[in-house]
Amino acid sequence: MTPNTIDSKDSVNSEVWDNLYQQRKSLLSYPDSSFVTLLHRHLTTAKHGHILDYGFGGGANMRVMLKRGHKVDGIEISDTVIEINNQILEEQNLVATLHNVQSHEALPFTDEKFDAVVAWHVLGYNSLLSLQSRIGEFIRVLKKGGCFIGTIPAYGDVSHDSGEAKNAFEFVSKVPTQNGAQIVCFESEQAVCEAFNLDMSVALLQSPLMDGSFSRHWVFLYEK
Ligand SMILES: C[S@@+](CC[C@H](N)C(=O)[O-])C[C@H]1O[C@@H](n2cnc3c(N)ncnc32)[C@H](O)[C@@H]1O
Repeated sequence: MTPNTIDSKDSVNSEVWDNLYQQRKSLLSYPDSSFVTLLHRHLTTAKHGHILDYGFGGGANMRVMLKRGHKVDGIEISDTVIEINNQILEEQNLVATLHNVQSHEALPFTDEKFDAVVAWHVLGYNSLLSLQSRIGEFIRVLKKGGCFIGTIPAYGDVSHDSGEAKNAFEFVSKVPTQNGAQIVCFESEQAVCEAFNLDMSVALLQSPLMDGSFSRHWVFLYEK
């Protein structure tokens, strides 16, 4: 697969998300049950003390990790959602360090800083090239023996079904609240492993949205 170039279209996604958060939309106040199950099954506070939560959004998953005893740094592309989370963290007497890092920027961390990297329901908001550049950065900041866990949209997800295809992996979202966002989506486990260039466990996570559409994501787990 030949990646295209990172261009100014990457900023479309930050505009789409910041606009949603300015309207206080898409702020999930509850954690994802599949994420909580995998967190407890695969990560411990003893071995995975320091976690990077990439694209923490409403922050509910992040607060589960903080309350469990992990130290967390978070990355977002929306200043608005960073402000909202800082306020919630203060109200709940929790501490996390939150950073605004855009897709084309390097992660502001030294090599092998984190015991785990979590990227839950966020990596779809990329071009193929920006995705692959992010993966390289995640592996760089992950300690040897550390864990990288996350999701990436699968064909049949609502974002794919309603999206306009640019090629087999890249789509322009037509989901009304995310119209114009640039997304990537994969047909098979093998396509995910090839795009990530990592030997990892991949499985399908599917939930009905009860309007005829589905949330369909590949869940992956990689140990460095
Ligand atoms: C569907 S929400 C998921 C939020 C959270 N991880 C969860 O599972 O509830 C996607 C989030 O990813 C953020 N995002 C999109 N593209 C990103 C990027 N390139 N880098 C960091 N965050 C990004 C958006 O601002 C949004 O908050």
